Amino acid sequence: MSTYTEDSRKVTTRRLTEMKARGEKISMLTAYDYTMATLIDQAGMDVILVGDSASNVMAGNITTLPITLDQMIYHGRSVARAVKRALVIVDMPFGTCSGNPIKSLEAAIRIMQETGAEALKIEGGKEIKDDIKKIIDAGIPVMGHLGLMPQSINKFGTYTVRAKEDAEKEKLLEDAHLLQELGCFGIVLEKIPAKLAQQVAEELTIPIIGIGAGSGVDGQVLVMHDMLGINKNFSPRFLRRYADLNSIITNAVQNYISDVKSRDFPNASEQY
Ligand code: KIV
Repeated sequence: MSTYTEDSRKVTTRRLTEMKARGEKISMLTAYDYTMATLIDQAGMDVILVGDSASNVMAGNITTLPITLDQMIYHGRSVARAVKRALVIVDMPFGTCSGNPIKSLEAAIRIMQETGAEALKIEGGKEIKDDIKKIIDAGIPVMGHLGLMPQSINKFGTYTVRAKEDAEKEKLLEDAHLLQELGCFGIVLEKIPAKLAQQVAEELTIPIIGIGAGSGVDGQVLVMHDMLGINKNFSPRFLRRYADLNSIITNAVQNYISDVKSRDFPNASEQY
């Protein structure tokens, strides 16, 4: 088995902070099922995120809003069962953390107990600070998520770059400091100017993981289907594709179809 790290110790939230302190970049990728999580973990990924992007790439929804708590728990459990080394984080889905700390804590406890994941990710800042504090106070590690927050797409109305204007930039900086004070162990910054993301990473001691937030942060996260080139319809500037699985899978499936139709498959050695 080859990995890109010589350190086979389990990744913890504490080790992510140590990685930031010594300037080692953090790798993070999404996964939603046992088989892919096994491969990604064996490749040496530091963090595996069971993102609510499952709503898009697994269920075919246009937004992340329809995915339910039960569905996130199903994906989280499948991934956690596979992973030996990476830190496994599960997204709290839309509506489960929105201003009612008791209910938020109940949902958080369900995810932790029923999946075996080690941490949660929550979109939002000041508006849900009481929910985040309640969850952290219960001993559950929380990663924040600021900038473009797909669960708020109906409020934003667009998936374009966030925090370009001064007022939104100030709010993002305040929210980032607040999340650190509340005890979040890290923050994802999505689709914001690289300069602002770097400022956040420099001002905070907790790791800042970017997606479309430039190179001045402490780590990077991508959606697995995008970086493996399974999705061909999604091509934002920040995305680097590391494979063209769309073509590979299509070719393989077409070859199989044609072998079945032509009676080439199965041959004599492929039967009993
Ligand atoms: O759900 C997700 O995949 C995410 C990443 C885009 C960070 O939140």
